[in-house]
Amino acid sequence: MFSVFVSAPNAEDPMAALELGERPEPAIADGWARVQVKAASLNHHDVWSLKGQGLPEDKMPMILGTDAAGIDEDGNEVLIHSVISSPGWTGDETFDPRRSLLSEVHQGTFAEYVTVPKQNLIAKPAELSFEEASCLPTAWLTAYRMLTKDSGLKPGDTVLIQGASGGVATAATAIAKAMGLQVWVTGRTEEKRAAAAANGAHQTFESGARLPGKVDAVLETVGEATWSHSLRSLRPGGTVVCCGATSGFNPPADLARVFFLQMRIVGSTMGNSTELAALMNLLKTTGIRPAIDKTLPLAEAKAGFQAMVDGETNGKIVFTI
Ligand SMILES: NC(=O)c1ccc[n+]([C@@H]2O[C@H](COP(=O)([O-])OP(=O)(O)OC[C@H]3O[C@@H](n4cnc5c(N)ncnc54)[C@H](OP(=O)(O)O)[C@@H]3O)[C@@H](O)[C@H]2O)c1
Repeated sequence: MFSVFVSAPNAEDPMAALELGERPEPAIADGWARVQVKAASLNHHDVWSLKGQGLPEDKMPMILGTDAAGIDEDGNEVLIHSVISSPGWTGDETFDPRRSLLSEVHQGTFAEYVTVPKQNLIAKPAELSFEEASCLPTAWLTAYRMLTKDSGLKPGDTVLIQGASGGVATAATAIAKAMGLQVWVTGRTEEKRAAAAANGAHQTFESGARLPGKVDAVLETVGEATWSHSLRSLRPGGTVVCCGATSGFNPPADLARVFFLQMRIVGSTMGNSTELAALMNLLKTTGIRPAIDKTLPLAEAKAGFQAMVDGETNGKIVFTI
């Protein structure tokens, strides 16, 4: 089957590691289901995979892609929850120490077919297109948990979202607005800030700009480039929720500020299947939808990856199959 995959990661030049071509269909294990992929969205996770992060040599070649929406073998329209827990695990999948995301241990979604445990299939609401649904399992689910579980925010509070254009950031902007928060967003270009405003931000700022006031929480996906600004922007007792560090993993800790102003720094990863179902309900009831920057046939995946590597996305990139 036609697939987008990696067999020799390249930390310096991830695009050189990207391969398009034929791969065997994955076998269907007991209790697993085969899904015909209709749409699959790109995440920064796929760029990390090309760089070899979290992908040991014995897992190669690996089909990329964590997210998909498609049709199961009974003809149902489904969405895939990408967190695969280990056999016998019960409870929140994200706390299973042996969990993985699709494309880390099991072959990913950038292919004609993907196999997943049956419990990871969720009915796709008719209100969402395959393209929209394919944006939810990683970026949107992560943003949903960051805001609803980890941030401690209540309607009327102010949230700062760093990095206007990212998949998680665009999801967070739309969800935060729907939650009744005051939404402030930073972005590196005028075009990205304008898109954030159109997506629901009440105010947008250049990266690192002094804000009109302190915020109750910051959503961090950028890391080194924005971390100091995040801490400077937070009110005493506020919360930084961090799920990623695209620009670098080792920002200055600024521990004196953290303890003196009693800040909370909370790590956040993905979400469980109950949260994914609740997120879909939120989209149904509020009418908010993923900001999709580009929809490309899977055969043109290189253009989508290149845009993400170059930081030239503005919302989600979706591949159709
Ligand atoms: N823990 C989890 O479960 C989880 C889930 C999803 C994502 N993540 C992580 O979260 C991060 C974002 O993922 P994504 O898929 O949303 O990525 P993406 O779509 O590629 O977004 C990139 C973002 O990074 C910002 N950025 C990059 N370099 C920057 C720099 N030097 N200065 C300022 N901003 C910079 C961009 O901001 P501008 O708009 O200003 O350009 C943009 O918002 C990744 O590191 C990913 O691995 C983690």
